[in-house]
Formats: sequence, structure tokens, C-alpha cells
Amino acid sequence: MGIKRVAVSGYQEMSDRAALLVIQRIKEKPDLVLGLATGSTPLGLYERLVESYQQGETDFSQVATFNLDEYCGLSKNHPQSYQYFMDKHLFSLVNIDCRQVHFPQENDGLDKYEQKIKDTGGVDVQILGIGRNGHIGFNEPGSAFTSRTRVVDLTDVTIKDNARFFARPEEVPRRAVTMGLATIMDAKEILLLASGASKASVVERLMTEKQSVDVPASILWGHPKIMLIVDKEADGN
Ligand code: GLP
Repeated sequence: MGIKRVAVSGYQEMSDRAALLVIQRIKEKPDLVLGLATGSTPLGLYERLVESYQQGETDFSQVATFNLDEYCGLSKNHPQSYQYFMDKHLFSLVNIDCRQVHFPQENDGLDKYEQKIKDTGGVDVQILGIGRNGHIGFNEPGSAFTSRTRVVDLTDVTIKDNARFFARPEEVPRRAVTMGLATIMDAKEILLLASGASKASVVERLMTEKQSVDVPASILWGHPKIMLIVDKEADGN
């Protein structure tokens, strides 16, 4: 138990380390089940996975994926939807079978998403970023440690942080569907990535404060196999 912290020099090294681990896990288990995150943090990781595929080193044909979250009210063709993001940065660039790609959807029966994850044998490796307020997925502060896939209201901090991707702040969705904290904890292995000065204060809280719903990521202290890869700017230590 406990978060294993790996300190790296910067965004590139964080992405390289994360990619090495994922590539290794796909080698060990070609039908790996990956839990995926969006946001700017895992972009470098996805780039390296694409490179590895292009170099004939990694085969995604049997890999299944479950994304952590999705906005409510955006169609999957909306450029800010997480489905669009994942297609653009990973799925359309590797040989993944689109029938093995999954997103939680408001109108799709949220228990069904949990069941689908179980039916594939559970998530083997879950990739996570962290919000400035400690959220993982869209589990905002106050989310129960027992929470499962559900619709949530986004906090002002998150809406503000995500506004940079939208033409106008009022276009940012106010609600999202997210795997719950308990859903995330079911993953067999978790890789949490943090990069940049804007994450320094939340990383410090995560590493020093007692576990609490105020910092949802602190639930990860109870996971048997969790690694935090943190770069210099995000690492207060
Ligand atoms: C979003 C996503 C999270 C992500 C977080 C951090 O709100 N729902 O899954 O980890 O923001 O994003 P970024 O990596 O851009 O800092």
C-alpha cells in the first residue's frame, strides 16, 4: 500500500516513463485492458504509444480501453468531447479495434459501463491525471470513496480550468459522467501523472495530508499498486 513516487526531470521524461510501462504491460498481456484519461497531461504518453505502434513495436489489436469520463451534452463529434480527443490523439493512429473502445455515456445505463468493465476482466492499468483541486476523472472534492460511475456537477475550478479548450467560457459543459472513485480503485495497477507548476500545490497536499474526500486523489493511498510519476515543477519535495 502507498503511493510510489517517481520523480523525473520534466514532461518528456514523465511521458517516456509512462509509455515504457504501458508498452511493457501490452507485451506481457496483448489483450490488456487500459483505463484512459484525457487532458494535457497524458498527451505525451499517447504520442509515444503511437510512435511505438508505428515502429512495429506495439500491437493494439487486442487491447480494450475504458475512458474515465466524458462531458454531458456534447456529441462525440464535438471537438471538445473526450471521444473526439481520444480518436484524434490515439485511437485513429493505432490498430485498436473500435469495438473495444468504451466511454461512459449519460444515456447508456451507467451500471452497464461498470458491468462492461467487469466483463472484460477489469482494468489492468489505469492512467490518471490530477485536477488542481485533487480531482481524478471528474470526481470532485467531496466525492464519496465508495462512488461508482455516475453523472456529476463540475466545480467552478474545473470549469475554469477547462475553459481554455472552448471558444467561450459559457460553452464549457457543467456536467459530466465519470467513473467513480471505487471504480478507479478496482484497477489492478494505477499510473498517476503530474506535470507543471500548476500541480505543485495539489501534489504536495496529496503526499503530505491525511486521506480525505477534500482531495479525491488521496483515495489512491489505499491502492496496492500505484505509481505517481511527477516532474520537477509539480514536485514540491
Ligand atoms: C480534466 C479531466 C481529468 C484530468 C484533469 C487534469 O478535468 N477530467 O481526467 O486529469 O482535468 O487535466 P490536465 O491534464 O489538462 O491538467
